[in-house]
Amino acid sequence: MYPFDCRKHHWYPATFIPAIPFTLIEILTQPQATIYDPFSGIGTTYFQALLLSRKPFATENCTVAAEFTKSMFLLFDPGLDHLTVANEICRETENFDSQKIYPDEIRKTSDFTVLIDELSYWYTPNVLNKLAYLFLLEKKEKDMYKKAAMRITISAILRTTCCQDRGWGCIADNMKPNEAQKKDADNVDAIRIFQNHVKRLLSDVGNHLKFVSDDYRVVYKEVTSKKTIFQADNRDFNEIADNSIDLVVTSPTYPNMTDYVKSQRLSYYWLGLSLTKDNADGLREIGARRKRGMKDSISNYVDDMKKTNEKLARTVSEGGYVCFVLPEFGNFNQNDVERKGSIQQVISNFSTLLSKEKEIERIVPAGRKSHNIKWATLEKEKIYIFRKNKKV
Ligand SMILES: C[S@@+](CC[C@H](N)C(=O)[O-])C[C@H]1O[C@@H](n2cnc3c(N)ncnc32)[C@H](O)[C@@H]1O
Repeated sequence: MYPFDCRKHHWYPATFIPAIPFTLIEILTQPQATIYDPFSGIGTTYFQALLLSRKPFATENCTVAAEFTKSMFLLFDPGLDHLTVANEICRETENFDSQKIYPDEIRKTSDFTVLIDELSYWYTPNVLNKLAYLFLLEKKEKDMYKKAAMRITISAILRTTCCQDRGWGCIADNMKPNEAQKKDADNVDAIRIFQNHVKRLLSDVGNHLKFVSDDYRVVYKEVTSKKTIFQADNRDFNEIADNSIDLVVTSPTYPNMTDYVKSQRLSYYWLGLSLTKDNADGLREIGARRKRGMKDSISNYVDDMKKTNEKLARTVSEGGYVCFVLPEFGNFNQNDVERKGSIQQVISNFSTLLSKEKEIERIVPAGRKSHNIKWATLEKEKIYIFRKNKKV
């Protein structure tokens, strides 16, 4: 068995390497244990737990990331013939007719909402026509497994096929592509990109399931029978019982670094959700980059994280562990110094709730650092391991 890398199937920002949760889960728990990630993102912890025959739970604020995790869970069904599903999807997507105007079909239909006019700014007409064709096929699809693979793929390729090629920050900031960018992107073949993505996705999941242990089927069935993936605010969340979780492995948001919700603007539009100021997901996001100019953003981050800390401390069972993966900012500038201080406050607050067993420092690989200029000063991260040895 080896870690499953969700990042191969979606570009969602600031995810952690799967080897971290995979190893911690293996070392700190036994099969059938309950594992929770309160900042679940696209489910990196969730899927390592599942593959290792543990029972995973996830809360995630961003609808796009939570939807990705729910769809991916379906593909982890051990009874699925992944190759056949991939082939059928590819066959079904071969009938694109370039004479048809598929966005108009979407505008006419009242069966579902796609904010097609919002999306039209981000693609050339040719690419939008192919995407609209895929949206319509996905909506019509009745088979839940095929639908899941199609949904993951559409969400992932909305960025790769988009004309805005200057990083997620531009999409988050609503910087629509200019004419030169549009010209470069006109020959993008969205259908071929979609088909290749579907094949890679299903073969990757299928290959991982070849190595699961005998109790995987039992655990998968049990996990299917209840709700384990919650699109929710982890500070204000009561669906996981107190003292019920054996291990938490999580990488919380960093202060003022990333806009998780806004970076997924294109997928929100595809889901029929607008990103106006009162978007509920945007309002609940802890540490959002868009708040970086606000006077109290760092202290608000610490206050928000303290609320998460309290909830988490209650959720873990006696003897259970909580592992945080957090950045180790340098002292390069005032922003870094403030961020570093805020992380220290969050950790020292958690130390008043559970006992700190260990801190492990890790060098962040160069690829991740250069991912975005803002990450360039982030050279190290730390894994903090806490244990609950008293009642909270
Ligand atoms: C660093 S990312 C986690 C990525 C995850 N480890 C992975 O590999 O996919 C932090 C996540 O916390 C989510 N988040 C922010 N505020 C939240 C809140 N109040 N409740 C739950 N999740 C929240 C963000 O949407 C983001 O997906």
